[in-house]
Amino acid sequence: MTSTFVTVGVVGLGTMGAGIAECFARAGISVIGVEAGPEALARGRGHLEDSTGRALAKGRLTEAARAEILGRVTLTTSLEDLADADLVIEAVPEVMDFKRAIFTDLDRICKPSAVLATNTSSLSITAIAATTTRPGRVIGMHFFNPAPVMKLIEVIHTMVTDEGLAEEVAELARRLGKTPVTVGDRAGFVVNRLLLPYLNHAAVLLESGLAGRDDIDTAMRLGAGLPMGPFALLDLIGLDTSYEVLSVLFQESRDRRHAPAPILRERISAGLLGRKAGGGFYGPGEHADTSHTSHTSGAPGPSADEPSPKRVAVLGEGGDAFAARLADEGLTITPVEEAEAVLALSSVPVIELAPRLPHPERLVGVHLVGEGVAEVASTVLTDPRVARAVQSLVRAAGRVPVPCRDRAEFVVDALLYPYLNDAVRMYDSGYATCEDIDVAMRLGCGYRQGPFETIDALGLETVRDGLRALYAEYREPFLAPAPLLEQLVAAGVRSFRDRP
Ligand code: 3HC
Repeated sequence: MTSTFVTVGVVGLGTMGAGIAECFARAGISVIGVEAGPEALARGRGHLEDSTGRALAKGRLTEAARAEILGRVTLTTSLEDLADADLVIEAVPEVMDFKRAIFTDLDRICKPSAVLATNTSSLSITAIAATTTRPGRVIGMHFFNPAPVMKLIEVIHTMVTDEGLAEEVAELARRLGKTPVTVGDRAGFVVNRLLLPYLNHAAVLLESGLAGRDDIDTAMRLGAGLPMGPFALLDLIGLDTSYEVLSVLFQESRDRRHAPAPILRERISAGLLGRKAGGGFYGPGEHADTSHTSHTSGAPGPSADEPSPKRVAVLGEGGDAFAARLADEGLTITPVEEAEAVLALSSVPVIELAPRLPHPERLVGVHLVGEGVAEVASTVLTDPRVARAVQSLVRAAGRVPVPCRDRAEFVVDALLYPYLNDAVRMYDSGYATCEDIDVAMRLGCGYRQGPFETIDALGLETVRDGLRALYAEYREPFLAPAPLLEQLVAAGVRSFRDRP
């Protein structure tokens, strides 16, 4: 049975559903949008008008083109209006009972040839399909927030999906100007299975006091080059949705990495769901900094009566170049004994250097990340005034300081390496190719590189060593380097692209 997809239904017009409806309407396809009641329908209409209004304001759409797009969308509160739709996409909240009830109704209402798709973020499509009399015509079509902008659609087939249907839906995704990645039915698929554990890890590290909200967001944006920091992204996705996805992942894996951080549950209970309601990690009127050139950090600078070191010692690998940069700023580089502040550019725990120093309270770890960030790690002995002064030095040297505690791999690598490790495990499990995983993360999350491109750029051995250090510090099984990574390093393979 070949599908033509002339009319598409979208059930649920929240942030995602409305965005999905817009994608189809922009591609010239007629859309019937369904919501539970008049209020929700009005909200859905508002999402569509806001999103296309933003494009109009930016000169990306003409008034006529906007009217055409909106004119292709019919809004209704009755599922019965979907009787003639060729494809229906469900985009209601991540609750299996809601989804099952809707699919039972759609199966009764829609013509037998219609394809029933779900935009679920993580729930079993096989289980949803089993509630219908046409499991072969049920498929996953997973969009990314904001749907009109993000270029990826994950197409998810089950064991019983009709042959050829996944390719037809992938072709439809291409008609929308998107890139499809087709995979089987596993909790979280590719992107959420890699993204959500990383976001959760950030929440766990925030709760542990490793660094502050703004500093972690800044570190991941400017240091790792991601489009948004993890807390700004949790607010965009919704803390409730993130919690649901993590819960499904945890149910399947029983892995602590997937156990939702208590700080998420606490905020959700307080009604702090993210951008869509009441704020989340950021308050309603408070916006995460999203610039890529910001030189501000949440950390306060030193006050006038605090020490401002003029003589500094710089220890460790890469120290010479950084010392030269500081000398350019007028600082005197001295031996350790004569310094006021000692900057340790070292990846070993900074505190291990303290016993060798005459003034351990002047010791601060400085970890240079990329071209623009320096993590500034205080040990248990560091004088906070010296730490603040070093943040100012770092700023003067042209980097954004990210104050943090002295923990293995500090902030950026502590979040980045476990995500890379997860990607290696995913590939090794045979679920997806390195290429598909890279494309999915680039287009689904707006990353400049996919995880395998990042591993190749950093070096397999560097990533392996970082994971070993993290495992030694935190002893969490998920931090142990994936066996495949260990083996590739042992075999001298330098790049995932060169693997046999
Ligand atoms: N709706 C429609 N369009 C939007 C939008 C929205 N909510 N937000 C931004 N845009 C458009 C803007 O109009 C602009 O379009 P233009 O280039 O045609 O003018 C474009 O997106 C870029 O927007 P801005 O310049 O305002 O902002 P940024 O450059 O900072 O980009 C971003 C914003 C696209 C959201 C970018 O920060 C990004 O890519 N962030 C990562 C988002 C991400 O990871 N999404 C996936 C989440 S996981 C998920 O959805 C799966 C689910 O199952 C949990």
